[in-house]
Amino acid sequence: MAGKVFFSVSMSLDGFIAPESMEWLTATAEQRTQDPRLERWMAQWMELQQWVFPTRFFRENLRFGEGGEEGLDNDIARLTFERTGASVMGKRMFDAGEHSWPEDAPFHTPVFVVTHEKRDPWERLGGTRFYFVNDGIESALSQVRDVAGDRDVRIAGGGATILEYVNAGLIDEFSIALSPVLFGTGIRLFEGVDAGRVALEPIRAESSPRVTHLTYAVRER
Ligand SMILES: NC(=O)c1ccc[n+]([C@@H]2O[C@H](COP(=O)([O-])OP(=O)(O)OC[C@H]3O[C@@H](n4cnc5c(N)ncnc54)[C@H](OP(=O)(O)O)[C@@H]3O)[C@@H](O)[C@H]2O)c1
Repeated sequence: MAGKVFFSVSMSLDGFIAPESMEWLTATAEQRTQDPRLERWMAQWMELQQWVFPTRFFRENLRFGEGGEEGLDNDIARLTFERTGASVMGKRMFDAGEHSWPEDAPFHTPVFVVTHEKRDPWERLGGTRFYFVNDGIESALSQVRDVAGDRDVRIAGGGATILEYVNAGLIDEFSIALSPVLFGTGIRLFEGVDAGRVALEPIRAESSPRVTHLTYAVRER
């Protein structure tokens, strides 16, 4: 039986899933280390994700070393990973990750990148293989479903790609880790949502000392 289509992101209390744009990514490594915007971007990103970095699961998966926190945040991070049979990703999220993921990228399942760029599949250690899909979100979803088996399909991000799936009525469920941080500006998760189409049914709300995890089912209005 096909699994659910879901997304799971960390969001600032004022609705942003990432700080301002990352045009500095196109700079050379040397330019980047000298660019103060990188430091600011990373500081904001760390605040947004401060609930997940200390968890045992995250540390293991990103090869940060042994140990780490157990508990609700760790359980949620692990379950989110384990339920995912394959993912869809936007090209800007991929571009950022290509520079920063370890050689064994943290997905360990197929990832379909929606993009206008034509590119051969890119195999990483540990079972992550990136495919580049040039014919839209429905094609990517159909391909990802074919390989996800009976596990769920994750729309990994970023904001533009998630929004396309929400507005197309293709999301069954989503979770937000609502971080106690204000960005004021950045990449807004629901900018341009078709609010007349989407209705939400609360499924769960769980709090840890670091963050509030909210889960909703998506219904058509
Ligand atoms: N807070 C979190 O938990 C979380 C999770 C994931 C990501 N993020 C953040 O999200 C940010 C990236 O999000 P974003 O909204 O800027 O971009 P995005 O959704 O990652 O990528 C958008 C790009 O994907 C390609 N694309 C999307 N739909 C397409 C389609 N139908 N056909 C062809 N190409 C398509 C286009 O790139 P091309 O035209 O260049 O091909 C488009 O510009 C990053 O900063 C990342 O860190 C945050």
